[in-house]
Parts: sequence; structure tokens; C-alpha cells
Amino acid sequence: MAAEPTLSNLATESRSFAPSEAFAAQANVKAEAYDRAAADREAFWAEQADRLHWTKRWDRVLDWDAPFAKWFVGGELNVAYNCVDRHVADGYGEQVAFHWEGEPGDTRTITYADLQREVCKAANALTELGVQAGDRVAIQLPMIPEAAISMLACARLGAAHSVVFGGFSPGALKARIEDADAKLLITSDGQFRRGKPAPMKENTDKAVAETSSIEHVLVVKRTETEVPWTEGRDLWWHDVVDKQSDQHEARSFDAEQPLFILYTSGTTGKPKGILHTSGGFLTQTAYTHHAVFDHKPGESVYWCTADIGWVTGHSYIVYGPLANRATSVMYEGTPNTPHEGRHWEIIQKYGVSIYYTAPTLIRTFMKWGKEIPEKYDLSSLRVLGSVGEPINPEAWMWYRENIGKGNCPIVDTWWQTETGAIMISPLPGVTATKPGSAMRTLPGISAEVVTEEAQPVGPGGGGYLVLDKPWPAMLRGIWGDEQRFRETYWSRFAEQGYYFAGDGAKYDDDGAIWLLGRVDDVMNVSGHRISTTEVESALVSHPTVAEAAVVGASDPTTGQGIVAFVILRGNAAKDGGEEAIKALRDHVSAEIGPIAKPRQIMVVEELPKTRSGKIMRRLLRDVAENREVGDVTTLADSSVMDLISAGLKDSS
Ligand code: WTA
Repeated sequence: MAAEPTLSNLATESRSFAPSEAFAAQANVKAEAYDRAAADREAFWAEQADRLHWTKRWDRVLDWDAPFAKWFVGGELNVAYNCVDRHVADGYGEQVAFHWEGEPGDTRTITYADLQREVCKAANALTELGVQAGDRVAIQLPMIPEAAISMLACARLGAAHSVVFGGFSPGALKARIEDADAKLLITSDGQFRRGKPAPMKENTDKAVAETSSIEHVLVVKRTETEVPWTEGRDLWWHDVVDKQSDQHEARSFDAEQPLFILYTSGTTGKPKGILHTSGGFLTQTAYTHHAVFDHKPGESVYWCTADIGWVTGHSYIVYGPLANRATSVMYEGTPNTPHEGRHWEIIQKYGVSIYYTAPTLIRTFMKWGKEIPEKYDLSSLRVLGSVGEPINPEAWMWYRENIGKGNCPIVDTWWQTETGAIMISPLPGVTATKPGSAMRTLPGISAEVVTEEAQPVGPGGGGYLVLDKPWPAMLRGIWGDEQRFRETYWSRFAEQGYYFAGDGAKYDDDGAIWLLGRVDDVMNVSGHRISTTEVESALVSHPTVAEAAVVGASDPTTGQGIVAFVILRGNAAKDGGEEAIKALRDHVSAEIGPIAKPRQIMVVEELPKTRSGKIMRRLLRDVAENREVGDVTTLADSSVMDLISAGLKDSS
């Protein structure tokens, strides 16, 4: 089909689209920003930090004791004040902060003045429940305003939030609560999924039952579902928050006060708690939101379709846009509930001008057909964004033509949970974009593509993407695990002091950067990061499984799909193991969450291993992608691959 895996056609891509003169003339950021930032990076970032309200100015812009950075040393600010109160103080209280659209069609309009009252009340409630600066609060909520309000209430109090995606299992929530030692959990009775209420609190209760740190569970009523209740521990949001005063004085915190922990998959089974702090994070999210989306406060209507449970939701639904006084759309549901035109209907309804989504969704829209967006008025759109995985040129062109009608710059933004904010992206009023390329680092950001030996590759060369200079929103560590922080990101190019991103990249002949996907055991499924080891451990925790190996195979819609190879115990493999396979898919979903459910499970008798016992995933990927199997000479037993291929042919 048209959506050939991303990278095969990169070598031949030569189309390029410059911004219109009219767009370029009015753009927030012009080409001179690159030179200015390169001339004095620290001065450049200090200038960006001045977009924020500081109660105490910093003494030094950067203290870099690799791999530990402190930005805006000695400065003090309150993140929530910057995102909410100062806009009210500046006279914009009546401006809409969120046009919230519920999945069943209910709506809420929240102005900055409303948001200020809600955040103050929530901060007072959290204080009453014993939350103090430095504490951790876990949040598992659907895409409802209370998600953003809870995050901002934590920020206001100097407590770090740990938001857990609503689709994660009780086990995943439990692990995150324990790792961060969270004392409060904020959740809801249920969540709407494809038009129906699905349970939430039942699941979070299972997690809380197995942890000891949670003192209270604060429950937002969303679906009106009956829920189990533990007296003394559980409290309704409307009982505790609504009665609070809507006045709350925001105290200032150090620029390096922890703002949040967000867990992401690494190459081992245990998720990493990525730690972000306040001043640098808010500076870079605000600047990039301003520069990359050409956001105009009071004029633009901005919509980022991510879930708040992922970093994109943190940086580009909550912090960056609110710091810039954006009017945002927040949508609770799935893109095809109740019909496949839901996104376009929302764009038309609110006059959305900036739309930021993921390639997997664009490919899904392509599959549904261009007739669907054609039925709506999308003329309000000015800038289109993409994030989460490499975007293939076909999807890019489809997005440009069918959604942007050829008039909207496309910004393909590369970044990570760890980088906190966008790092590589076109500037919409400056860059002549190429379909499928994230183009170049933003002003003030520096990256390199290097060989295994840390040699920079020239134009046309490919290798590993590294970040060779600290940046304001960079992660400050892995929660409670300094060793892992050093090993994961800083050991590969320790001598050079480069941050190893885990992505492959190449430069084309013009020096534009093309991202090529992960080079480690992390899969990217619909823009979600899942580690092969995480899925393997879920599989082997099932009694029928003796051994398992998991690979990410390219998938025309989701980017990658999870393919598992399992050796079953005893007679579980009888009748082709069909029952066992179904049970295993459900088991993985229950252990991690539905996003980790394997697309395909193949029952095999052996796994390909090297003499030292390492599974050769490369060969399994060949099988999963229906390719001829590559070099098998390093296998302990080279006939294993024949056995696997033969077995699969028999069962198909
Ligand atoms: C991938 C999401 C190519 C990449 C913000 C990275 C991308 C991982 C792009 C981070 C892009 C993200 N082009 N690949 N524009 N954006 N990625 O932590 O592999 O969920 O390392 O952060 O997604 O995923 P994460």
C-alpha cells in the first residue's frame, strides 16, 4: 500500500516546500534567531526565560557539571502562576484557556479566570490532604479538565506529579506509585471509551491495594458509574475541592524544583521515571510552542491531540501553551467516536488554527479516506504539526494536501520524554520543509549525527543522533537511579560527553536531518514507546510460556507492530496453540495495558540465539516482516531459523 514503511524512499525525496511570503513576513521567529542563538546560547536562553515571570532573577544561566545541568541558577518562580494567574493579572481573565469537548458531546468552556479559581481550589484541597512541596502525587485521569487542573495544583504547591496514562494496567500504576512513593492518587470513577463508560477506579483500587504510600484517593466523577469505596481513604473531588476557597497565594520555588516525573520505557523491563524541573522546562516549552507553532496569544486556537498521560500532553497541552496564554481545544475521546469526521468537526467548530498530532493518526485518516475531511471547513488551519515517530513522505504529503490544503507549513517535531521539549523541527516561517524530514535543530539547540566511534558524519551520512550541548528542558535524572541515568544516556559517548538519544538519523546532501527510528530495544507503536523486554517479561509471567522474544515489525498504520515469538510449555501448543495465543494477548494487555497487546504471536519450538545465549532479534524481525532471513552464522545452531520459518509456513 501507499504507506510504505517510512524510510525506503527517503533517499529519493527531493520535494521541498518553502513558507509563503505572507506567512514568513508575519512569523514569530525569523531566520536571524539561529545566528543569534549560535553566537551566545546562554544569552539566547536567558532572553527566552524572560518570557516568564520570575520572583527572583537567576544569578547564572547554566551550571553544567555533566551529566547534571542546572538552568537559571538561583532564580525563583511559580510554574502555575506563570501558566494561569499572570494572564488574569494582565487582564486576560476572560480569554478561553480550554474549549473542552467530551466524547459524548458535552462541553465546558474554561477561561483563564475560571482556571485560576479551579487551580486555587484544588491547591487548597491538596494542602488539606497533607500535600506539601517536595511530595509526589500520582494522577490517572481521562482527558478531562481536572487532569490539567490537578497538574497545575501540584505545580503551584511545589509537589511533583506523576501522571499515568489512563490505559495503563493496575500493575503499571502500582509500579509507578511505588517507585515515586506517591502519597495521593487522583483518579476518576470511569472514563468514556468509544462511546461507552469504562471503569477506572476499580483498576486504580487494585493498584492502591498493593502499595503502602497512598494516603488518600481523590476521585473525580466523570461517568457516574458505581464504584467500590474505601471509607476514610477515598474522597470525591466535588466534596473536597468544591468547598475550598478560590484564593490561594502561590509561593515561589527554586528554578530546579522538581515539577514532574514521567515514566517511559527503556531497554529493560522497568520503566524509567524521567525527572523534569521548573524554570528550564517552562522556558523551553514556552519558547518552542511560540516558535514552532507560530502561536499568537488571543488569536490562535491551538489543538494538540495527545493524551495528557504522555510527555506531549505535559509539554504541549499544559505547560507550553498555558505559559503562552493559548486558547486550546482539549478533546476527551477517540477520533472515530461517534464518527470518523470527529476531528474535522471539532476544527470547524472552534476554528482551530494550529493542529498537532501523530503520524499514526494521519495514516489512519488516510485509510478512512480524504472524502471525510472534505466535508468540513478546515480553512482556519495555519500550521500543522507531527510528533512521536518518523512521518513517511506519503503521510506528510497527504496531511499537507488534504488537511492543510497546500497552505499550511508542516512542522515535524523530534523530541523525547527525556528532552522535555521540541529539539529538532522546522520553523514554519523560515524553513523550506521536505516531506519526512524534521530538518534541523531549533535555535539554541545542538545535535550531531555520529558514528559508533563518535565521529561526526558529513552530509549524506548516517549514524546515531546525539545531543552535544545541554538544553533547558533536559531531564535532570531518572528518579532514584543515578546509575541508570548515567548508563542509559551518558555512557555510550562518555568521553565526548554526548547525550545518546537512542535514535538513528542521517543527514541528506543539504544537511537536513532525517530521523530513522530507534536503534535500541524500544519499539514505537502508534507513537507509544514500549520496550521489547517489558512485553517479554509479561509473556513469560504466564504459566504456559517457557520462553519469549519480542520484536517491533514495521506496520503501515501504527509505525511498528508488536510481534512475539513464544515457546509454550507442555501441551499448551496443541491445535496450533490458538487458545493459548488468545490468552496471552489478553494477559499482556492486563499486565501492561492494551497498547502493549501483541499484534501477532507466533508459536515456535526454538528461538535463535548466539553462542552466548543472546536472542538475535534481527533475525526474528526478518521473519516478522516477511523478509529473507539475514546472516545466521553467529547462531549457536544455524538450523533454528529454518525450523522457525518452516513451522510458520505449516501453521499459516
Ligand atoms: C520518536 C515523544 C521521528 C523517537 C515526544 C524518540 C520521533 C521517541 C519523532 C520519543 C519525530 C518522536 N520523528 N521520531 N518527529 N518524535 N520520535 O518519549 O524514536 O514518547 O526517541 O516522546 O519517539 O518518544 P517519547
